[in-house]
Amino acid sequence: MASNATTVAVLPPDVANKIAAGEVVERPVSVIKELVENALDAGAGRIGIEIEGGGRKLIRISDDGCGMSRSDAVLAVQRHATSKIRTAQDIDAITTMGFRGEALPSIASVSQFELLTCDRASGAATSVKIDGGAPAKVASAARAPGTTVSARNLFYCVPARAKFLKTTATELSHVGRFVHSVSLAFPHVAFKYSIDGAVHVDVPPQPADTPFADALRTRLVQVRGQDLADSLIPLEHAAGDYTVSGFVASASRAVLTRQELYFYVNRRLVRCSWFATVVKRAFGTLLGSDKYPYAFVFVSMPPQAVDVNIHPAKLEVRFGSEFAVQSAVSVAVMNALRAGERAPVAGIGPAADAGPGDRAGARMKPPVPSRTPWTRKLTVDEWKRLYGVAPDAGSAGPQPAPGAAPSPQPAPPGPGAVPGSAPAVQPSPQQRDEADRIRAVGQVGGKYIVAEISGARNGIVLIDQHAAHERVNYDAVIAAMTMSSAPQQVLLMPETVHLPNEQAVMIRACLDELRAAGFGIEEFGADTFKIDAVPGYIELGALEPMLAAIAADLRETGGSRRADELRQRLALVLVCRGSVKFNQSLSLPEMQALIGQLQATRTPWTCPHGRPTMIVVPFDELEKRFGRRG
Ligand SMILES: Nc1ncnc2c1ncn2[C@@H]1O[C@H](COP(=O)(O)OP(=O)(O)OP(=O)(O)O)[C@@H](O)[C@H]1O
Ligand SMILES: [Mg+2]
Repeated sequence: MASNATTVAVLPPDVANKIAAGEVVERPVSVIKELVENALDAGAGRIGIEIEGGGRKLIRISDDGCGMSRSDAVLAVQRHATSKIRTAQDIDAITTMGFRGEALPSIASVSQFELLTCDRASGAATSVKIDGGAPAKVASAARAPGTTVSARNLFYCVPARAKFLKTTATELSHVGRFVHSVSLAFPHVAFKYSIDGAVHVDVPPQPADTPFADALRTRLVQVRGQDLADSLIPLEHAAGDYTVSGFVASASRAVLTRQELYFYVNRRLVRCSWFATVVKRAFGTLLGSDKYPYAFVFVSMPPQAVDVNIHPAKLEVRFGSEFAVQSAVSVAVMNALRAGERAPVAGIGPAADAGPGDRAGARMKPPVPSRTPWTRKLTVDEWKRLYGVAPDAGSAGPQPAPGAAPSPQPAPPGPGAVPGSAPAVQPSPQQRDEADRIRAVGQVGGKYIVAEISGARNGIVLIDQHAAHERVNYDAVIAAMTMSSAPQQVLLMPETVHLPNEQAVMIRACLDELRAAGFGIEEFGADTFKIDAVPGYIELGALEPMLAAIAADLRETGGSRRADELRQRLALVLVCRGSVKFNQSLSLPEMQALIGQLQATRTPWTCPHGRPTMIVVPFDELEKRFGRRG
């Protein structure tokens, strides 16, 4: 043992391949994924997927792609042999699904493998057979242009791995999800999937000239049914180098699992720790705390902006600017929901009974023009102000110079200010003018303010008081954080808070921002903090849950490296977890003051989650409904 242990030797290729296979080929679905991705890279228009015995007995993928010449076929089953990249620089901008040259040799080392391929250019076909990583047997063969790869008796030569396979049903469910998800990303390709000889999926290709969104919708109808497709709201958002497309289903379809969240980056389905949180947040309180929506989100970006070479099965990616991607996804979903939420304006009155749920609204044409400030998409400027960076934030958005805060300049609360709220932002004359034109009439349901708006948008305004408070407070918290001295409430007795290490590290990373927000906080031993003051605008309460909420939020969203992002997240937690003071029952002057403060914010028509704060019912619409006008 001793002398052998110090002798270094390069492993023979079959051993090296089996070790690589341990990472690349974990279970049947991994084989199917690699082979289907090869077919897609080969430009296939039709892909056949056959499996038997849950994938253990047989996996066979066939395509009508470009095929391979005999010499390429022989090379393709060797490790690190690929046609997709050539130089180290190529790794920085990968545009194909594969790039490592590892899949075929890995699969061939753990199965009875056959590659049957016909080169479209020459029409010559080749068969390459490999038994559990043994030397390849190469022969001439016959086949139409394209490739078929079969893997029989998966893991027969690596019993340890075979042991870890789950039940056939479990393996099949993984394969089913993969087939379904890849068929959505490539609606222009036909997929046929059969299990033990019975066809389960057979979807025709969408015509090549069909735009992606239309092709995807048709594919969704094919694989998920008309009913779901009817509740889908399209995502369309472009921010600099990032484009977001796809669909979300309306909140009424929400489910209790994250299984219906699909996130694609350059058409590659990826797992992503923050995706569920970002989408759920964009839905805000439209969803119960335990519910998740259906979301099929496709983000396109330059290949240089994303590293796809970080996971052995290519299931995860790393973004150059995670924040930019999160923001793009978040804005895309919020905009889509906002567009979908025009319906309630039209839904007032008996016509709302026309059908169930939000579909009734969807069938009716909203009377408000689609580009009123209440429903329109964010402009680049608003985007910038809301998120602190330009939409193309990937390339390092502008950062306000320290001390030269461009806005907002906090002003003392006016005479009618909401008691306990943070200082409001000084309204511009135009905003004041706008505010003056909204006259509070009263409060209904304990949570809505009814007001009248005069001027261009003549009508009734319904204001969600809580959402309005959230918007006002969120902007005010951000404003307070940018002041040199945020308002503070000094505690009579300093408190020490001990947090679990995983939370403490997050808090430690944002101590400066917490201090800027008005916390008197310092480290006080391992994972313990001493707090002697809290911001003036928050409710005095238990400090530990509040810090835990901040830590949890930062962890869920993957933390943040930039001060302005941290500030925004912190403000969102403080406002949305109810730490900031809200005033529930308002007098008429207080309502009027709230409206004024809301109008003075940068984005008065939405709360920080993107939900509407105000809905307008134009008088024109009322006249129509009362039959005064046709
Ligand atoms: N279905 C196919 N049609 C045409 N060529 C193929 C097909 N499958 C594989 N090839 C060729 O074989 C090569 C090796 O395939 P393999 O999957 O092992 O590596 P890769 O796709 O380049 O990288 P990765 O290991 O990341 O998948 C590919 O680069 C491609 O040139
Ligand atoms: Mg490959």
